[in-house]
Amino acid sequence: MRDQYGREINYLRISLTDRCNLRCCYCRPEVAQQLAHSEILTYEEILAVCRAAASLGIRRFKVTGGEPLLRRDCVFFLRKLKQLAGCGKVTLTTNGILLPEVLPELVRLGLDGINISLDTLDRQRYVQITGADRLDEVISAVSQACAAGIKVKLNCVPLQDTSEAELLELVTFAQKLQVPLRFIELMPLSCNNAVQGLSGSEIRSRLTAAGFTLTPDKTIYGGGPAVYYRLDGQTPVGFIEPLHGKFCSCCNRIRLTAAGYLKTCLYGHSGVDLRELLRSGADAAVLRQALVQAVSQKPLGHDFEHAPAAFTMNEIGG
Ligand code: 5AD
Ligand code: SF4
Repeated sequence: MRDQYGREINYLRISLTDRCNLRCCYCRPEVAQQLAHSEILTYEEILAVCRAAASLGIRRFKVTGGEPLLRRDCVFFLRKLKQLAGCGKVTLTTNGILLPEVLPELVRLGLDGINISLDTLDRQRYVQITGADRLDEVISAVSQACAAGIKVKLNCVPLQDTSEAELLELVTFAQKLQVPLRFIELMPLSCNNAVQGLSGSEIRSRLTAAGFTLTPDKTIYGGGPAVYYRLDGQTPVGFIEPLHGKFCSCCNRIRLTAAGYLKTCLYGHSGVDLRELLRSGADAAVLRQALVQAVSQKPLGHDFEHAPAAFTMNEIGG
């Protein structure tokens, strides 16, 4: 599927739930409103959307949340998705807490990768950022996922008050496990305006000052917009910079919210309410038509530079 600007759209992010067992300061408001079960798409409904998407050339599916592993039978859904005709890669984004109990099944179903959110290795700071004392479980989950042979990437949203020592600890941890570490620039949302991020160039200069060499790395590690460097010629470190490295011109993705709204851009509201369509009896052809139509109107880019976005990240899975 191409949009009106000629961008090839081949990647769908699916939020399975808006619920989460953490409360990261940059993601959601203190008091988050939760969707009722009836407002969330059923697995059958999501699979119908995925089938239509795959038939239109979507080849990568990222399952996210909220915390996707909180939703009952998430593994059943992942297996079905992986078995769907025409479906290429299926990956998962998780905070890691519930990962160990499902790891063997994820390996068995052939999951293509797991991104684990890990913003710090300092226990107090982890509590401060996420609101929960669960760092040890996450660290253990990362090690177990690596040992299970699944492709793992670490996601870190660096904050203004993330110390140099924390950055170095993360980098050293990634080096030890030989997993790519990605720094994601904080996206300003109306619910996180008290939180300040750290830019990619600030992180790079801190790493260089600490004695690491960073060499640009052109290897492609996934379907995303991260720009990679090799740390001391070894571990890949990626930078995803929606503001400082605006990548909208090569955006390849659309998003399905837990409530069944197909968002064609992370930032605005443009898209189509697929839940309404699905629940009014739309067949596969109508669904496909709605996808094509929505994608053709995908906006050129975000406008974070001028105003924070009005959604919370757990609704749409980043
Ligand atoms: N800005 C940048 N990244 C965010 N994430 C959640 N909220 C934000 C935000 N406001 C990240 C999570 C997760 C990924 C899917 O999105 O840390 O790793
Ligand atoms: Fe949960 Fe992820 Fe949001 Fe943190 S960033 S509160 S782990 S959905």
